[in-house]
Amino acid sequence: MFPFSSRMRVRVTAADPYSNPALYTNDDAFSLSSYWDERYRREGGAPFEWYRDYGSLEPVLSRHLDKSRRVLHVGVGTSRIQVQMHYDGYVDILNVDYAPVCIQQLSALHASLPGLSYEVADCRTMPQFGDGAFGGGVLDKGTLDALLCGDSDEADAAAMLRECHRVLTRGSAYVGITYAAPRTRLRYLQRPELEWDVSFYEVGQQGWREGPVAVADCAPEQLAAYPKQTYSHFVYVCTRR
Ligand SMILES: C[S@@+](CC[C@H](N)C(=O)[O-])C[C@H]1O[C@@H](n2cnc3c(N)ncnc32)[C@H](O)[C@@H]1O
Repeated sequence: MFPFSSRMRVRVTAADPYSNPALYTNDDAFSLSSYWDERYRREGGAPFEWYRDYGSLEPVLSRHLDKSRRVLHVGVGTSRIQVQMHYDGYVDILNVDYAPVCIQQLSALHASLPGLSYEVADCRTMPQFGDGAFGGGVLDKGTLDALLCGDSDEADAAAMLRECHRVLTRGSAYVGITYAAPRTRLRYLQRPELEWDVSFYEVGQQGWREGPVAVADCAPEQLAAYPKQTYSHFVYVCTRR
């Protein structure tokens, strides 16, 4: 089951998201750093890859991220995709998360890997990174989805995407991997202040892939036809003008 696919009405609080075991998987919890810290502590740093592995994403990532320049990976969690990217030639990946536990775990684990660095950062506000600091692009797998589970989903998504947009250079891209089809996701990606061109891929089972589909070239009924497969994911590519 995809935990982000539905909104539940029960609320948890930042102070104690575990007070009721039934709330442990409530989707509001996905927007709380305390939830993620507790989860990563309990799991002891064990790897967990949301949605898709590197193999199924590689053709899209290598087309839209620049291996030779600095890439920002927002919301790394306990993913290992950045390690595979590193061995595949990406020279400099900065992995951030607002949950300090996973950053401590991964920093210790990958201390000997040049070109992979880890930092605690909230991707809604990243003043420590200058405009255009990531010419290689920005990678997001499931982090915008997590933010959209919270009470301030609209404001959080807008802030995150503004920051991702700001740290790109002209021609570099925000690459976002999600369960969300265009009819629900494009409204966040196509806000007027975001000066980028949006396209997407649908990635399905057994190597099936469609895209890139340029959103500007599509009629609404074409966009409404997605998803075309069950159990597929979407990769949104937003290329800075
Ligand atoms: C669904 S998990 C995805 C983890 C990883 N990207 C993967 O694909 O396996 C979402 C991650 O985003 C992080 N996150 C959520 N909101 C964040 C924020 N505002 N800033 C930085 N990280 C955030 C969470 O701590 C969590 O590690």
